[in-house]
Amino acid sequence: MTRVLVTGATGTVGANVVAALQARGVRVRAFVRDPGAAAARLGRDVELAHGDLADEDSLVRALDGVDRLYLSAADGPAKVAHETGVIDAAAKVGVERIVKLSAMHADPASPLPALRWHGAIEAHLHRSGVPATVLRPAFFMTNLLMVAGGVAATGVLGGPTAGRRIAMIDVRDVAEVAAVQLTAPSVTAGTWELTGPAAVTFADVAGALTAATGRPVRAADLTEEEARPRFAGAGLPDWLATHLAGVFGIIRAGGFEHTTPHVTSITGHAGRSIAAFARDHAAAFTPAGQPV
Ligand SMILES: NC(=O)c1ccc[n+]([C@@H]2O[C@H](COP(=O)([O-])OP(=O)(O)OC[C@H]3O[C@@H](n4cnc5c(N)ncnc54)[C@H](OP(=O)(O)O)[C@@H]3O)[C@@H](O)[C@H]2O)c1
Repeated sequence: MTRVLVTGATGTVGANVVAALQARGVRVRAFVRDPGAAAARLGRDVELAHGDLADEDSLVRALDGVDRLYLSAADGPAKVAHETGVIDAAAKVGVERIVKLSAMHADPASPLPALRWHGAIEAHLHRSGVPATVLRPAFFMTNLLMVAGGVAATGVLGGPTAGRRIAMIDVRDVAEVAAVQLTAPSVTAGTWELTGPAAVTFADVAGALTAATGRPVRAADLTEEEARPRFAGAGLPDWLATHLAGVFGIIRAGGFEHTTPHVTSITGHAGRSIAAFARDHAAAFTPAGQPV
């Protein structure tokens, strides 16, 4: 039976990849740095490999007996070293396929740090010779959870989107696509841009949150000048403030407006809508102590 190693297994997408693989009856091994926290997040029945992406020996141990690999790591300055290290270890032990979580607009020449890192890792992956599937999702719906407390407190969803649409995707759909690619008997190597089923404005999102929470939420468009100090002054690392500002620049240029059919064609069902996301996460957008 196929055994899959999942890196970034406690992450937003990674935890859903573990669950989606388990649902398919696959043997899953999760590569984690904190087994106690991982067991609490993933469930006691998931096999854990304790290690660190910076520790090659721990990677080689974790890859023992593994056929396929889900490759993901946190964004940050160590990302390229972490993921290329995993690719090199996987190539050394003869892993038969890697499914890499990348991002739409990944490009080694991108001015946005995370997109540049993904571009460099993709290039390394293709050079490695290991058959590779690259998933390039659009903006995650779960990004909205970062501002959920503010929306609950003020009823306002602000963002410098210039009213443009974003084909946001639910991370559960990204994970299901990964699980299909990791378990299919034969998969065409390639790069897949993944989007939600529809491109929506922040006003559409506010409407979905109003319906889901039963409380009025409105969208407020910010100018680039209004938004810049919010990113720069939020106590974020410089690279992340630069990255977030850049992502909204792509949004304002219409770079996330197109939809692709791949979630439906790969999983066999349509991707989750923003209305479904809002219903599933209504509590996060509702003031504490108030019924949803
Ligand atoms: N947000 C978006 O809109 C968007 C869109 C497209 C693509 N993406 C991409 O999605 C990816 C993030 O995926 P995600 O959300 O599933 O991940 P995530 O929530 O950022 O979690 C990162 C994972 O990496 C693990 N990790 C970090 N450092 C480690 C180390 N030194 N050794 C072992 N494990 C380590 C973390 O483990 P711990 O639990 O121990 O911290 C966690 O499991 C990024 O590459 C991002 O560019 C994001």
